[in-house]
Amino acid sequence: MKILFASSEAHPMIKTGGLADVAGSLPRAIRKLRHDIRIVIPAYQSVLKQTGKYTLVAHLDLEGVKQPVRILAGRLPDSTVTVYLVDSPEHFDRAGNPYTMKQGSAWPDNAERFTAFCRAIEALALNAADLNWQPDIVHCNDWQTALVPPLLQRHHHHPVTLFTIHNLAYQGLFDWKVFKNLELPADFWSTEALEFHNQFSFIKGGLVFADWITTVSPTYAEEIQTRTYGYGLEGLIRHRSNNLTGIVNGVDYGVWNPGRDPFIAAQYNIRSLTDKLKNKRALQQHFELPVADTTPVFAVISRLVEQKGIDLILEIVPKLVMHRAQLIVLGSGDSKLETAIQSAVKTYPQHVAAHIGYDEPLSHHIEAGADIFLMPSRFEPCGLNQIYSQRYGTVPIVRHTGGLADTVTDTTPASIAAKTATGFSFTPVTAMALLGAVERALRYYQQPQVWEQLVSTGMRQDFSWRHSAQLYIDLYKKILAQRVVGAGTSR
Ligand code: ADP
Ligand code: GLC
Repeated sequence: MKILFASSEAHPMIKTGGLADVAGSLPRAIRKLRHDIRIVIPAYQSVLKQTGKYTLVAHLDLEGVKQPVRILAGRLPDSTVTVYLVDSPEHFDRAGNPYTMKQGSAWPDNAERFTAFCRAIEALALNAADLNWQPDIVHCNDWQTALVPPLLQRHHHHPVTLFTIHNLAYQGLFDWKVFKNLELPADFWSTEALEFHNQFSFIKGGLVFADWITTVSPTYAEEIQTRTYGYGLEGLIRHRSNNLTGIVNGVDYGVWNPGRDPFIAAQYNIRSLTDKLKNKRALQQHFELPVADTTPVFAVISRLVEQKGIDLILEIVPKLVMHRAQLIVLGSGDSKLETAIQSAVKTYPQHVAAHIGYDEPLSHHIEAGADIFLMPSRFEPCGLNQIYSQRYGTVPIVRHTGGLADTVTDTTPASIAAKTATGFSFTPVTAMALLGAVERALRYYQQPQVWEQLVSTGMRQDFSWRHSAQLYIDLYKKILAQRVVGAGTSR
């Protein structure tokens, strides 16, 4: 099959969160299963500055886009996966984050920027760029690519479309004035199409028009059909539930493997766990915390946003201190949360340390050196750090929601006996409930034998893409077959 995989970020070219990890690793896995999958992302300034080789392959004049757009082609590092860059300087050649300005607010022209991106994907999907390649399937991801299904369905011979929801909280909502300037087909503005409570909703493009919808864990696929997690889109999603599948994300153990990780102080595996201790000492030193082998080190690596329940962690800091634990935070985002973290560091310099910012090597170092990883998310479509943590022998404490529920087995007498326990989970969104899980974890931390069992069960889990990539391929085939049947009956 020929698949065009469209995303607003892909590791290692550009990353702000888990979407990039998925877009950089799922296509690689699908390529290994011998399908012709190609990635398309915007040519952000930081991507163009990298050393990778890109060649100019097409010029495109796109409806509603003032300047012509260039398509560059290159390779995903260490693979045979082609990467297309949509080079539209007025939209993407600017310093900083793909979605936000320095102060953290959205670029004012985001609707225009990602409409141009979707128009370019539409052209590639229809082979209008004369690349002598037309995909059978366009796999779109999140709102930045969600106009592609409605744009494509206006053409006679178009590829089938799959839309993956990585996070329903980000929808790409804009007002009528913005919509008018995008020069999109006028009938997009309708409640049957992309209008949502008097706003223009990019994500509805994927939800209404894609041939199939997936999300990144089976539990999240259920949750988004309810009021609590559906943001008012639950009715539409329920309506499409026969064409909705939850597929849990895989991870790239080529990037996340303590046995070969170039960013950590000492490499280790399940048979050399004492070397994990070297990472713990190095980490404590790095953050200028007291170096102490028996002090439990809790870690957080996260976008600092409401979703992640960072406020719950801040509430229990005094209790962590009372338990003589250490807490290390790596993250950036909401300035209120950043300030609150910094003030916790000031109050408890012997116990709390933080790096406010985005730092990939440091994120590996923390995974390797910490004992316990905290992820008390209010919602979590999949979540990747709880999976990385398991491979690094860092026991995760998670809220029982979305992908966290699907990838962490709570520690109970029964799961210890069955040797299936990999972490700790709790349900109410309260600091008390989080504290309950933390204190449970600390009790087991004092029992080295049980703790070692948790660590090694986690390290043995296999969340590689092999299984989930096959599920996507099966789904691509099913959508294609469905279309053939559909075409047959309509004739
Ligand atoms: P989300 O996509 O919602 O942010 P995920 O758990 O799916 O959550 O993925 C987050 C990814 O981003 C992980 O690879 C994590 O290590 C990385 N990450 C988040 N914040 C930072 C940071 N401040 N520095 C480095 N990596 C980060
Ligand atoms: C989103 C979600 C996260 C998921 C990631 C990759 O950013 O918040 O849970 O792991 O996408 O699918």
